[in-house]
Formats: sequence, structure tokens, C-alpha cells
Amino acid sequence: MTTAVIGKPISRVDGRQKVTGTASYAAEFEVPGVAHAVVVRSTIPNGRIASIDNASAERSSGVLTVLTHRNAPRLAYRPHNAVVDPEFGERLHVLQDDRVSHQGQPIALVIAEKLEQAQHAATLVRANYAPEQAITDIVHAGPVRPGHNQTDQGQRRPSESRRGDPEAALAAAEIKLDQTYVIPRENHNPIEMHATIAAWDGDRLTLWDKTQWVHNTADEIAAVFGIPAENIRVISPFVGGAFGSGLRTWPHVTLAALGARVTGRPVKLMLSRREMYYGVGYRPHTVQRVTLGASRDGRLAAIVHDGFQETSTYEDFTEALLNPTRFLHSCPNVYTRHRVAPMNVHTPTYMRAPGEVSGIFALESAMDELAVALNIDPIELRLRNEPERDEFKNLPFSSRSTRECYRAAAERFGWNRRNPQPRSMRDGRWLIGWGMATATYPMNYAPASAMARLLPDGTAEVTSASSDMGPGTWTSMTQVAAETLGLPIERVKFILGDTRLPRAPVHGGSMTMASVGSAVQAACRKAREDALARGGANDLTEAMRRLGQPIEASADIKPGDEGQRFSMHAFGAVFVEVVVDPDLGETRVRRIVGAYGAGRIVNPKTTRSQCIGGMIGGIGMALMEHSVVDARNGRVPNANFAEYAVPVHADAPPIMDVIFVEEHDPHVNPLSVKGVGEIAMVGVAPAITNAIFHATGKRIRQLPVTPDKLL
Ligand code: MOS
Repeated sequence: MTTAVIGKPISRVDGRQKVTGTASYAAEFEVPGVAHAVVVRSTIPNGRIASIDNASAERSSGVLTVLTHRNAPRLAYRPHNAVVDPEFGERLHVLQDDRVSHQGQPIALVIAEKLEQAQHAATLVRANYAPEQAITDIVHAGPVRPGHNQTDQGQRRPSESRRGDPEAALAAAEIKLDQTYVIPRENHNPIEMHATIAAWDGDRLTLWDKTQWVHNTADEIAAVFGIPAENIRVISPFVGGAFGSGLRTWPHVTLAALGARVTGRPVKLMLSRREMYYGVGYRPHTVQRVTLGASRDGRLAAIVHDGFQETSTYEDFTEALLNPTRFLHSCPNVYTRHRVAPMNVHTPTYMRAPGEVSGIFALESAMDELAVALNIDPIELRLRNEPERDEFKNLPFSSRSTRECYRAAAERFGWNRRNPQPRSMRDGRWLIGWGMATATYPMNYAPASAMARLLPDGTAEVTSASSDMGPGTWTSMTQVAAETLGLPIERVKFILGDTRLPRAPVHGGSMTMASVGSAVQAACRKAREDALARGGANDLTEAMRRLGQPIEASADIKPGDEGQRFSMHAFGAVFVEVVVDPDLGETRVRRIVGAYGAGRIVNPKTTRSQCIGGMIGGIGMALMEHSVVDARNGRVPNANFAEYAVPVHADAPPIMDVIFVEEHDPHVNPLSVKGVGEIAMVGVAPAITNAIFHATGKRIRQLPVTPDKLL
């Protein structure tokens, strides 16, 4: 009997449930007696509610209640530390006062027997405002503050960093390049809308919620209502994509729970697609100025990277824009600075490789511009600046496979056939462009717990309160458990998505495999040893049969001091072929080849699938995605799938090649995995814009590269 299943391309264990529709998502749970809630939202970006009339809505058919700031119960809103540290702002308090801080802020909640009744009544609520001057466009943003709430392995990262003397080095540099790169606001746009069903039973609350972190939802709602977190159960077995929008608990969850408490009924609240642009975060609009100084032979002498982004007036959310710049390439003189502009918008959040994907767009675009200026091959330029260690943290890398990634991806791509001259390669009337970029994403590893329960019939149930928004956590954890226990995978069941299960960290930051996987491994190891010892057998199935009763073992894992000894990151290289129509300005991505050094790969099938998803996300970022903000009022006129373009099947290149270079990193975590969820998107956008430059001779520094920018 072979049980080696780590490293095997196992198909999703929940695949059948998903394709047959038996996997239940938040809004699909059948809760008897459920009433329906619809949110009324502000139509101004800043000011006060002068008056609000809910009388006709109250009288409308089927309506149970209409809550506004005038009649809603006051909530405790205790401080809660998640995503944005309370030191850097206080989350939006819903229906607590007459203040409006952003367009689309909830100002009333209508609850009715039927959804359609609630939707109709919501149109009858009338508000008059006392508007105040609003800033919703970063171009007009007022005072800026240092951005400083980002954390790295539990430590706060500085908003500013300096080594050497960048100003003097720039003044003396043989080659100098100074450019600004702009990424507009983008929204997560998962297929599944955010939804919550809330049901109170006395002072106990059950929430069926779309979330990437069930325990955080419980903790945050407990803080909002001033009740113990143990009183709240959060259930979230399946998440239909999230990309970061489910990392924190947004105001609509509070509204669902509030509505349920006031009406004494279970309440379902599902956001519309349009509402998804007004209350569950977005990738912030960023402006990044990068100045590079180098010698003629392509050695970096100085980097200055100045990043600037939007945030709300009530919270400082800071993206990790500058982190890669601090260590990715060797450079003795580096200055980085991150600032945020408080504006009349709702708080942005993490989205699809947050920070790294944006910062790397600027840095790897600038590196390509430098390669062109110096007439050096872009891979060669990076090899000449390959660092021996992390020069920011002054630590060795636990492992770093950039060289192998450049080599493997370049070879697969056929890079040596590239004519470096822009506009030199054609396919009929199409201009061909080849571009590349480096990718990196931190190895995140956080405390996690798991429980393994072995049964006399030779099966096992393994649990941890993690989430699976799509990467395949149900499957990969089953693999880790089966291999560790030495049981066939069919006899192992892994369960996640419920606060009654052992606590897991946020399902984000590419940390689930490392963290939950290591906890699952530890719990299974313990359970197996225990069962073998107590059952008096060498075979686990035999030991369990002899024992005749279940055996349970729990494990809690947490990082050691490796973060003080090593700089730990996944690295990769992305190569792209585009074709550009010279008359219409249309860009098509034909090929993407990505090579990654991401530690051990537990499931090459789901991991490849995840990388393809990241690459396609990169195409969206580079060529299509843009949440347009109307500077007059903060509205998003394209808050729908007709006008917010995302890549569809027809936009996916026929060739997406994913290479994992072999890496055995004993330092990062017990499973030796680094995570691939986000690195797969990092580097794709600059590889595409670098390819577009190669195709057309036009350098586009403002995403997305829509046809108008190429004409
Ligand atoms: Mo990810 S943006 O950490 O879900």
C-alpha cells in the first residue's frame, strides 16, 4: 500500500460537490423563517444626513422594520485588531450617527419578508444631506501621512527606509532614470457576492458568512456587539472567490446581525454586484515614482522609490508597495517612502498579491527601462544585480531561486531567439513583443491549530477552521493528513470553515499551506503515534481496530525564531509574449511562462491551476481592470460586469506554462512550503507592459493598457 500523496496531482476532493451544486455558499444555507435585508446607501461622499424619511418604506408591503441612525440600537464597537490596527484608525460604525464619510455608505437597512419587498421599500427611503467638500481623487488629495500599519511576521514595517547615500549616488550615477507609475483602483470581483445570514438564539449568534477568516468574523462581531466571541459561531465551508475581499469583516455583516436582533428573525443580506464596489474594499489607486541610478555596465548605484496611495478618512490602510524594492536587487544606496492620502472613500484593502504586485509593477518596469537605456538584456541586468543576502534586513535568504527561475523560464520560452530591437518582430500585421519581470512574495507562516480524530473503522477526520476560497485547501490538507497518518486518501476527511474547529490564521497572504498544513501534519503525527502506542500494533488500521474507540490529538504550531535568522520569500520569473495590433491598439497575450521557487509543492495540479489564475489576474491588471472613480462624487460609474472588464476565457492565452524549480528549504516551516497563491500574479503586469514596449516602442506607465494608450 502506497500512501505518498504529498506532491501528487490529486483532483479536488470537493470537486463533485462544486459541479453538482451541493457545495453550500453563504447565501445558500436554508435557515427557517429567514427575512431579507437590503441596504440603503448614501448618495454623497462627505457630509451629514440632515433628515431621513423612512415612513413610507415602513408602510410598504412585507416590511418588518427600517433601521436608520435615528432608531438603530447603539452598539459597543470595542476596539478590534484586524487588518487595520486600531492605532491607525477606527472602522466605520454603521447606523450610529449622521456622519457620511464615503459614497455608498450604509444609511438605512430595510428588512422584509421577501427580498423583492425589501428592495422596493429601500427605494422609498428619502434622505436629505448637508454635503461637505469631498476629495475622492488622488490627484486632488490633501494632506498625506506616513503609511505604517503593514506588518511582516508580526513586526511593523517602517514607512520609510534608507541605506547608503542615495542622493549622492544618484548625482554621481552614469545613467539616471526617473519615472512615475500609476495603478488605478481595482475591485476584487469574485464570482460570489458577499453575503451573510445572521440568526440569534438568545444571546448567541450564528453567522453563515462569506469570509476568509471565520474566527476574525466572530471576534469582530463580538467586539461590535460587546458580547463574548464564544457566543458567536461562524460557518463558511465554501467561498466563491474573494481575492482578499473576505480578509476583514465589513459593515454589512454587522448590519445583518443588527437586523436579526431587532426583528427577532434570521436575516439574510446579500450585496448586489454594484454594492460590491462600495463596501468590501479594493486595491487602492497608487502613484509610484521610481528613480534609478546605475553604472554603464548595469550595476545599480541608487534606487529611490516613493509610493503614494489612497485611504479613507477613518482608517490608514497601507499596502506593502515598497517591500520588494528594499531587497529584490542588490543596491548600496536605497531610499523608500510610503505615504497615504486620507480621502472620502471607503477603506481600501488587500487584493491579489497586495503591495508586492503593485510595487513590482513599478520596480520591474523601471528595471526594463534601465535595460533598454543601457542596451543590456533584461535578464542579464538582473543577474548583474543579484544580491547575496537581503540587504534591507541584513539577513541571508532561507533560499532564493531567482537564477534558476530566470534560466528555466527563459529556456522554456525561447528567450534567446528574441531580437531586442523594439518593433522588430512581427506576425503578419501584428507586432510581437517579448517581455519579462521578476516576481517575489513573502513566505508568511502564522500560528495555527488542527485536530486529528482516528476512528476504529480505520478512517480519520482532520479539522482546522481554515477557509478555501479556491486554491484547494480541502484537497491539499487531506493529502497532508493522509500521508502523515499513512492512510489511503479515501479514508481521510478534512473539514474546515467553522469556528467550532481549531483556530487557523487568515486564509490570505499565501500562508494557508505553510501554517494550516504544518498544524495538520503535527496533529496527525501525534494521533498516529498515540494510536500505535496504545493499540500495540505497527499498522495504524490494525491499532485502531484493536483500540475500538476514537483517538484524538490536537496540535498548535507557531513560528520560531527563523524570521530573525533568515529573510524568507518565494521568488519567480515571468516571461510574456504579446501581440499588438498597430492599427487598433489591441493587445493580446499569447504566452506566459512562469518559473517559481516556492518550496515544496503539495499538489502540482491545484497549484498549477492557482498559478494560471494568478497569470490571468495579471492580464486583467495589465490590460483591463479599472474601477473608475467620478471625482465629483466618488461614484464608480462602471460598478458592474458589463463595464468593469475582467479577462474571460477568450482573453486567456493558449499557452500558460508553470514551472516549479526544485527547492528544499528546511528553514521556513515544517512542511517546507512557501505558498504560491499570490506570487503567481506578481510580475505579470510589468512583463506584459515590458513586452508591449518591445512590440511597439511605447512605454505605458499607467495601467490598464487599453487600446487608446497605444494609438
Ligand atoms: Mo489575499 S489579498 O491575502 O486574500
